Amino acid sequence: MSKPIILSMKNVSVHFPVKGALPFSKKRVVSAVSDVSVDIFQGETFGIVGESGCGKSTLANAMIGLVRPTSGEVLFKGNKLYSLSPQEFKEIRRDMQMIFQDPFSSLNPRFNVYQIISEPMKIRGGASVDEMKKRVIELLELVGLSEKDLYRYPSDFSGGQRQRIGIARAIILNPDFLVCDEPVSALDVSVHAQILNLLMELQEKLKMTYVFISHNLAVVKSICDHMVVMYLGNVMESGSTKAIYQHPLHPYTNALLSAVLDVDLDNKKERILLQGDIPSPINPPRGCRFYQRCPYAMKGCVDKKPALIEIEPEHFVACHYINPFAQEEINAGLAKPLNL
Ligand SMILES: Nc1ncnc2c1ncn2[C@@H]1O[C@H](COP(=O)(O)OP(=O)(O)OP(=O)(O)O)[C@@H](O)[C@H]1O
Ligand SMILES: [Mg+2]
Repeated sequence: MSKPIILSMKNVSVHFPVKGALPFSKKRVVSAVSDVSVDIFQGETFGIVGESGCGKSTLANAMIGLVRPTSGEVLFKGNKLYSLSPQEFKEIRRDMQMIFQDPFSSLNPRFNVYQIISEPMKIRGGASVDEMKKRVIELLELVGLSEKDLYRYPSDFSGGQRQRIGIARAIILNPDFLVCDEPVSALDVSVHAQILNLLMELQEKLKMTYVFISHNLAVVKSICDHMVVMYLGNVMESGSTKAIYQHPLHPYTNALLSAVLDVDLDNKKERILLQGDIPSPINPPRGCRFYQRCPYAMKGCVDKKPALIEIEPEHFVACHYINPFAQEEINAGLAKPLNL
């Protein structure tokens, strides 16, 4: 039996209005996330990968109530997150926390460790100073620091230690859903493994569900149970990490994976080198968002958006080229490869 779903997104889009180049020019929107549906199972680690600007952080922020979707629904433990009263939202939001990418800017340099870690508890109220102190010491030990660090300031710590402080602050209210948005990318490579191991230990001990955003596909492969591959606000491929790494289907996923030398794909595919840059999300292609850079693009890819289709158990892909139904159209001569 599969685990219960803790968070579900249904057809979520997030558009940001942006100013036009001239004062009276037409208003434009950045389509940061477009029609994304995901289910995240309790206790799992859910990976989000894709190039810079593809909407990973926006998607994660929409999950935890930091960015209101333009359309679609987010359900956390069955509650429609964006239909809750402010009080209900405040309470549920304590179960959802985030670890920030940069522990240098995310910790207030004027606060000591005790003040930083206890802040969420102080805001919630109802705990005495002694209780807060006891809890902060407990957390310091849990994240590999100690009581003697209590009154030190962020500037006294290394990047890895600061990230430990950020993690302690994120888990002080016992959340069960934690977004880790590039949690080690701002740190020295030598401490990556330590922080990742700490996160894995805490997940085991505290039974948390993680959303893990990373550019490091080898790390995603080793720690994520399910994942989505995003491109320009769309999900290109999703499913179990094992299925995706063993048998990547989307040309974009193949390109991403083939750029990583240390990923030993069981099913070796030809290397795909992407041409050009990721297009602007202000005016994204109306068909497949990847078609301009796709070596297999066909005429149909320009106008028709491919649906995310389950190709094998727990493995979905949005690609006309891979989709067996479109394949019939290709075979019948109705769709022809596009010479870009
Ligand atoms: N508040 C905002 N206002 C306008 N545009 C925004 C805003 N936040 C994000 N964007 C745009 O939305 C798109 C997606 O951004 P997002 O930060 O989610 O990408 P990302 O995948 O997390 O990138 P990175 O890997 O660099 O962190 C980008 O084009 C970005 O410029
Ligand atoms: Mg980001």
